Amino acid sequence: MGQPDITAAERDAVYKTIFGRRDIRKHFTAEPIPVAMLGRILKAAHHAGSVGYMQPWSFIVVDDVGVKARVRESFLREREAAAEKFDAERREKYLSYKLEGILESPLNICVTCDRNRIPGEVIGRNSMRETDVYSTVCAVQNLWLAARAENIGVGWVSILNRQDLHEILNIPPKHVIVAYLCLGYVSEFPEIPELEAAGWRSRLPLEDLVYFNQWNGKLPEIYRELAAALKD
Ligand SMILES: Cc1cc2nc3c(=O)[nH]c(=O)nc-3n(C[C@H](O)[C@H](O)[C@H](O)COP(=O)(O)O)c2cc1C
Repeated sequence: MGQPDITAAERDAVYKTIFGRRDIRKHFTAEPIPVAMLGRILKAAHHAGSVGYMQPWSFIVVDDVGVKARVRESFLREREAAAEKFDAERREKYLSYKLEGILESPLNICVTCDRNRIPGEVIGRNSMRETDVYSTVCAVQNLWLAARAENIGVGWVSILNRQDLHEILNIPPKHVIVAYLCLGYVSEFPEIPELEAAGWRSRLPLEDLVYFNQWNGKLPEIYRELAAALKD
């Protein structure tokens, strides 16, 4: 029998969620996330696909202000180090951006990957060993979209030192830290990415990224309509 078809209204809701997802840094409110809702969001993450059904992820939910403060200190150090990589003009811009909401968001979640979660050979991982980490990123994306469907904002903070996180959160060395996320209700979900609004980068034209049959292959004439759709 399988599952019933997705209705048009349900499909539209999925696309609305995908296009309405934003990375949130400065719009968090302090309102707590209901526990049942957090459960739904984590369950959505846990239902991601994974190589060999490995389910290599774990989630550390952080609400302790002291722990968050230590993570933020790591962010501040890493931000300074990263700033050195930009030329003077970009450095000033970079340092002026708000790139995390660790303290303002009521909950942080650290997502890790256990590369040895199951003993022996993992179906599908032999040729591309890093697919276990990709699987964990799929869980993060599920989490991000489920949160948006619950009107909860998520901000991904990667400007963090992994060793700091291992120490602060007591994560055993064998677990790979994949993501550090800030979650909370928001005052608004911006229409466009904040980096785009700030003039840092804009969305690439999709038509430049889709090829046919081979690298750089042009769209055949029968795909005229698709070419037009990609321009939208
Ligand atoms: C792997 C990953 C790491 C990211 N790290 C950061 C970060 O450290 N700080 C930040 O402000 N945004 C971070 N972002 C958010 C991106 O800047 C954001 O996704 C991008 O600008 C597009 O905006 P949108 O997510 O609102 O569509 C990260 C996103 C991803 C997927």
